[in-house]
Amino acid sequence: MLKSNKMYTDESLVNSSASQKTNCSKKTIILTTICSVVSIIIVVVVLCCTLINKKQDPIVNKIFTHRGFMLDTSRKFFPVSTILTLLDMMAANKLNVFHWHFSDAQSFSVQWSYNSTSINGAQFYSLADVSQVMSQAASLNIEVIPEFEMPGHSDIFGVKFPSIISGTPNVNNPEAEMNLKSPDLQPMISTLLSDFLAASKPFSASKRVHLGADEVAMIWPDTDHKSTYTAFENDFLLPKVKSFGKTTIVWNDPITSQQLLLSKEFTIQVWTGKSELSSILSKGYKTIVSTSQEWYIGNATPDKISNYVLDNSKIIGAEVVWFTSPGDDPVDISWLEPVIVAAGKKLNGL
Ligand SMILES: *[C@@H]1O[C@H](CO)[C@@H](O)[C@H](O)[C@H]1NC(C)=O
Repeated sequence: MLKSNKMYTDESLVNSSASQKTNCSKKTIILTTICSVVSIIIVVVVLCCTLINKKQDPIVNKIFTHRGFMLDTSRKFFPVSTILTLLDMMAANKLNVFHWHFSDAQSFSVQWSYNSTSINGAQFYSLADVSQVMSQAASLNIEVIPEFEMPGHSDIFGVKFPSIISGTPNVNNPEAEMNLKSPDLQPMISTLLSDFLAASKPFSASKRVHLGADEVAMIWPDTDHKSTYTAFENDFLLPKVKSFGKTTIVWNDPITSQQLLLSKEFTIQVWTGKSELSSILSKGYKTIVSTSQEWYIGNATPDKISNYVLDNSKIIGAEVVWFTSPGDDPVDISWLEPVIVAAGKKLNGL
C-alpha cells in the first residue's frame, strides 16, 4: 500500500510538472529576489554592527595605564607577608599600581621620627620592610604610590606634634586636622617628604605620590580658609613633590567640596560618586576612578566592576580601594580575589 501510494504521488508529480513549470520559475524568481534582498539586509546589518563595535573598541577593550589596588595599613596593620601575597595576586591579574595608604588619623604605619620624636605606635613597617615591599613590587612591574594623608585625618600627628594641629587629636574618635597657619607645619612636612622621597630614601623609586586631601573641614583659625588651603596645595605641596621629580595625586574633595582651583598638574582620584566624577572630568583633570559604590571593598562586586563604564579620555584607570577596620583578618586575603580578577579584566580590556 505504501509503495503504490508513493508511486502514485511520483507519477502525479511528473504529470503535473509540465503545467507547473512556468509557475515554478516565477516562484523561483520571486524567492531568489526575496533571498537576495534579505541577504543584502543581513550584510548591511552585519557591517553596521562591526563598524559600531570598531567605534567602541577603544573604550570597551582599552588597556588602562593605571590599574590599581589601595590598601589601608593605618586602621589595620598587615604583616609584610600579606602585602607580598596581595602584590602576587595583583600581578597575576595584571594590576600594576599598589597605592599604599599607610597614614591616616589612627596611625602613621611607616617608621618615621621628627625632632627626635617617633610618630609610630606599637606596629609599623621598618625601612627594611618598606624596601622589601618596594623590591618585590618592582620585580612584578608594580608601581608603589605612597599616601601621606594631609591636612585632614591627622590626629596621629597631633598626638606627637600638637603645635601643627587644630582640633583635639583623638585616634579613636578622629576629628583633628593640620593647622595650615602653624609656622611649624611646612618645615615638618618638607622634612617628612624629603625623608621618604629624596634619592635613596624609601619611596625614591615612586614616580607618583598621593597627598590625601579628603574630608578637610577647614577648622584652623583663619580669615580666608580657601585661599590658605589653595596655596598650601598649589604653591607649597605641588612644587615640593615636583622638586623630587614626582607628580602628585589627591582625592577629589578640594575641588568638589571646597571648590578650590587646584592646579591641573594634580591627578585627581575620585572616591565619591558619579556626579563628582563628571565634574572632575569636565574640568579636565587627569582622573583615577574609585567611586565608592562600585570600587570600594565592601561595596565592590565583580559584576559592578565589569559593568562600570570608563568612557572619558581623561580617565587614566581605576583603583579598587580597601579602607580597612580593626576587625579585618590581617592574614587571609584570598576573599579579595574575585574583585581583583574583575578589576584586572576590566582594566586590561579583557
Ligand atoms: C621642631 O623643633 C624646632 C626646633 O626646636 C621647634 O621650633 C619646632 O616647634 C618643632 N616642631 C614641631 C612640629 O614640634
